[in-house]
Amino acid sequence: MRQNYQPLNFFPIQCYEFRCDRFLLDSTLGLLLNLEYKSFNEPTGVLTSADIQGREIFSPLMSWFQECVDTLHVDTGLNCDRLVVNKAWANKSVAGSGHHHDAHRHPMSYYSGIFYLTQGAPTIFIDPLFQREWGSFYLDGKVNSELAYHGGAGGLLLFPSYMIHASAPNTEDVDRYSVAFNTFPSGDINLGGHGLPMARVKTEGWKDLGPLSLDEYARD
Ligand SMILES: [Fe+2]
Repeated sequence: MRQNYQPLNFFPIQCYEFRCDRFLLDSTLGLLLNLEYKSFNEPTGVLTSADIQGREIFSPLMSWFQECVDTLHVDTGLNCDRLVVNKAWANKSVAGSGHHHDAHRHPMSYYSGIFYLTQGAPTIFIDPLFQREWGSFYLDGKVNSELAYHGGAGGLLLFPSYMIHASAPNTEDVDRYSVAFNTFPSGDINLGGHGLPMARVKTEGWKDLGPLSLDEYARD
């Protein structure tokens, strides 16, 4: 089913903000509180769960993620059968710990998502065209190439996976919980001459979703 969203202009890059209902937020947060976490990220500190996309208890969350991706798929005219939410994991940053996640991107994904379940430190995005600041008239040397964003509890941000981002140190008095995910195309990709696709792939992911039902996602 089609999901509502708000386009956000980050630098020159369009990102998309969705919002889930209260029940999904509360029930998912309850599940995250009981997950097992380890410190995989650099620098150590931020805690990460194992993959959650295949776990039945997360089905409602994964369905919603997929519906948000499907909505963008239709609206932006992606040339593939399906963009599948193929990997998702939870992150926890303890209140007042100052833990953060260094700048990184999500290679081999198309859109990535960050679903915020609590308040806490913002995500920092880096302008992919940061060099243009060198030609601007900042006399104090300040370079305006970073942007801090937090979607609030229940907010989901979808952004192109090539965007470099980090999480700021969590100095707030709240455990910061989020779920991140990646997407990968599946089925026929980029139809070329004679109606033949450039590639045909089978993507493991949330479910074997099959072709997208355009009618279900068409704009009103
Ligand atoms: Fe990330």
